[in-house]
Amino acid sequence: MCCSCCGVTQQKAWVFGLGTFFAVSGLLAIICWPGFIDSGIMKALPLTPTSKTFEKWEELPIPVYVYMYLWNWTNAADVQANGVKPIFAQLGPYVYREERKKMDLEWHDNGTVTFNPRRTWFWEEELSGGKQTDLITAPHLPSLAASNQMRNSNVFLKFMFNEALNANGGHLFVTHTAAEWLFESFYDEFLHYAMTLNNPLVPKIESDHFAWFLNRNGSKDFEGPFTVHTGVGDIKEMGEIKYWKGQNHTGWYDGECGRLNGSTTDLFVPDEPKGEGFDHLHSGYLSDHKS
Ligand SMILES: *[C@@H]1O[C@H](CO)[C@@H](O)[C@H](O)[C@H]1NC(C)=O
Ligand SMILES: *[C@@H]1O[C@H](CO)[C@@H](O)[C@H](O)[C@H]1NC(C)=O
Ligand SMILES: *[C@@H]1O[C@H](CO)[C@@H](O)[C@H](O)[C@H]1NC(C)=O
Ligand SMILES: *[C@@H]1O[C@H](CO)[C@@H](O)[C@H](O)[C@H]1NC(C)=O
Ligand SMILES: *[C@@H]1O[C@H](CO)[C@@H](O)[C@H](O)[C@H]1NC(C)=O
Repeated sequence: MCCSCCGVTQQKAWVFGLGTFFAVSGLLAIICWPGFIDSGIMKALPLTPTSKTFEKWEELPIPVYVYMYLWNWTNAADVQANGVKPIFAQLGPYVYREERKKMDLEWHDNGTVTFNPRRTWFWEEELSGGKQTDLITAPHLPSLAASNQMRNSNVFLKFMFNEALNANGGHLFVTHTAAEWLFESFYDEFLHYAMTLNNPLVPKIESDHFAWFLNRNGSKDFEGPFTVHTGVGDIKEMGEIKYWKGQNHTGWYDGECGRLNGSTTDLFVPDEPKGEGFDHLHSGYLSDHKS
């Protein structure tokens, strides 16, 4: 079309018409775009074996560093000999890099997936404020626990117990390296004795070795299995824990208080109003409390 052949009114109408058209399209785009993006994200988000979320969820792509501090009982011998006040000094941090991977994935038709979390820890010398070979003295907890159980017994029983304790590896304190306390573990004569006792009064003892993280490094059987919602079918449910070890209840505390409620902290729904912050259940926390 040639403008020189249109009248002024026609030209004005064209300009006005086109202007209105672009203005309206622009407004529509502004109004609809975020929703469009949101719905795109919401479609891509749910966890499936092929979704973008999956890789990052299956194996955490960012390094996690765990800082651990140990208390050294610096005057243990003096306490034993002279009954003075115990002194503890904080050592560390002993830093480990934690790798997390979800193993044995089992996808269910109802939008849930079951897995065993596996955590592996690697010593980080440069980040640490101590050495793995640091010698650390600590109370001998098995002896203390056993003594505590006996504290209300009569004098005769206490005497017998004391003899048994002293003859079978009871101590007030023990000294081991930081690595042994945390992961490597050490053989404990008293634990071995308690294990072989088979006394129904003694709580079941699983191992004659001790470490705070005994048998946990690289183990996929320690914490799980967990069943979480994938968000398929209902994005608001994504990440919600449905079962832990096949149960919807932790077994600690009755009723509501022990109910599983929250996420495993590695899957979040954007813009999800969850009240004041997130309720979350951390498996490490759970396991620590059980042992
Ligand atoms: C811990 O305390 C003991 C004394 O009970 C001491 O011999 C040892 O050097 C201390 N360890 C460290 C790493 O300072
Ligand atoms: C989903 O399906 C699995 C396998 O069939 C079943 O064990 C589980 O109870 C179901 N979970 C829910 C929340 O319905
Ligand atoms: C944990 O296990 C891995 C591989 O099995 C090993 O390389 C690593 O040193 C272990 N970590 C600790 C803290 O023992
Ligand atoms: C938990 O499981 C019990 C029995 O397995 C069932 O009766 C109950 O409805 C479940 N609760 C929830 C919130 O899923
Ligand atoms: C989880 O806890 C919130 C409050 O903290 C409650 O509103 C919700 O009903 C609970 N969900 C389940 C499945 O128990």
